[in-house]
Amino acid sequence: MAVVPGVWRALSSSLLVAAPVIILLLGSGRATVYEPTWDSLDARPLPAWFDEAKFGIFIHWGLFSVPSFGSEWFWWYWQKQQQSCYVRFMKANYPPGFSYEDFGPLFTAEFYDANQWADVLQESGAKYVVLTSKHHEGFSLWESKYSWNWNSVDVGPKRDIVAELATAIRSKTNLRFGVYHSLFEWFNPLFLSDANSLFKTRMFSFTKSLPELYELVIKYQPEIVWSDGDGDAPDSYWNSTGFLAWLYNESPVRDTVVTNDRWGQGCICKHGGYYTCADRYNPGHLINHKWENCLTIDKKSWGYRRNAKIQDYLTIEELVQQLVETVSCGGNLLLNIGPTRDGLIMPIFEERLRQLGSWLKVNGEAIYNTVPWKAQNDTATPGVWYTSKPEDNIVYAIFLKWPAAGCITLDQPYARAEQTQVTLLGYSTSLKWISLDKQGMMVSLPQLNSAQLPCRWTWVLKLSHVV
Ligand SMILES: *[C@@H]1O[C@H](CO)[C@@H](O)[C@H](O)[C@H]1NC(C)=O
Ligand SMILES: *[C@@H]1O[C@H](CO)[C@@H](O)[C@H](O)[C@H]1NC(C)=O
Repeated sequence: MAVVPGVWRALSSSLLVAAPVIILLLGSGRATVYEPTWDSLDARPLPAWFDEAKFGIFIHWGLFSVPSFGSEWFWWYWQKQQQSCYVRFMKANYPPGFSYEDFGPLFTAEFYDANQWADVLQESGAKYVVLTSKHHEGFSLWESKYSWNWNSVDVGPKRDIVAELATAIRSKTNLRFGVYHSLFEWFNPLFLSDANSLFKTRMFSFTKSLPELYELVIKYQPEIVWSDGDGDAPDSYWNSTGFLAWLYNESPVRDTVVTNDRWGQGCICKHGGYYTCADRYNPGHLINHKWENCLTIDKKSWGYRRNAKIQDYLTIEELVQQLVETVSCGGNLLLNIGPTRDGLIMPIFEERLRQLGSWLKVNGEAIYNTVPWKAQNDTATPGVWYTSKPEDNIVYAIFLKWPAAGCITLDQPYARAEQTQVTLLGYSTSLKWISLDKQGMMVSLPQLNSAQLPCRWTWVLKLSHVV
């Protein structure tokens, strides 16, 4: 199907018959043709849905989920760096001569139910999902012509995991579907040979990585291509500008697709679509380019770890705080979970996702479709973060601690007599406020015991007509 999924969904219910005409109209309205240069590609406006969405779920799943020990860098730490805890773990638990490839048949995914995953993701309040279609180990979770006998259809579950999730997400939820893709592969002989020639040859990039990327986009039409793993090779080696020009000009997702900034050495935080800058990036101040905080619930690993301790998981308070700070400063949060080798999202992850969803049910209007305000946080009261909806004259003050005094001082917003209204999201009655001389305003919170509070962990004041 050559139509854009998002547009298709929006149009299909009412305009099924007229859809081809509409697509033609949209096509002819698109004047810009992107050149394979960073100047041209970087000037592409980010499709609006991404900034409006604010919150997505990252899923790290692959053969590293079989040992589920240490981290998703298991193969590298065990065989390249020969870190002692990995070597000992293998000696103690697997027969002599056991290779990383032998994890393939053990990646069984017998409990993988993409529809059930889709339900959990929908309940989290996230608006998009990004699945590791292939991590640095090179094992692809889709049926790829370019990954012969090293993919989930030939080995392990014998299922096309990418296809199943894409279908479930599109049929059961309103989330957008995206894929993570690692450019390089730690131990691929073609990559190692190119690296030996200081990337003057391009055997790996031209016969493996690029064909895979085109295949992924054409087969599954992801609306996010989350690139990673440049292997210290320049973007010219990866032909990244050539691929992106195709993606933005000609691909089936050209109108809605969003990309990140990991397209070759030196590109991060500088080129591509939105910026990721670093893992767990959360600058704490406004960034004037769309960015994303990719963050793990398990503080120590992206892949599932059986040996994680309870204190290794971020608490719901910490997660809401990350979401709020990120959105106030212009970012999106991409929150990572790691399923098990047999296809389960463990209850600790599911619980965090459902808690976020319940918080967003009450407070989501202060997150989705908002823009940063003139101030990101308050100086009089630490832990107060702002978002806004200028077209509605609304500022949201999100506070992370319920003040014992029962009132809260805000020094950034100035109220306007007769006009300003203050409410607490999830609570029906308007709140009393007074203007302060030098500082902004003080708001009296309702006297509620914990059972009466509209939500837990973080509350939102909705201020209308303040400056
Ligand atoms: C590499 O990029 C150029 C444009 O710069 C394009 O013509 C060519 O098709 C690309 N090759 C691949 C394999 O993507
Ligand atoms: C925001 O918070 C940071 C760190 O807590 C603080 O240093 C800074 O002064 C605050 N900024 C504003 C505008 O309040």
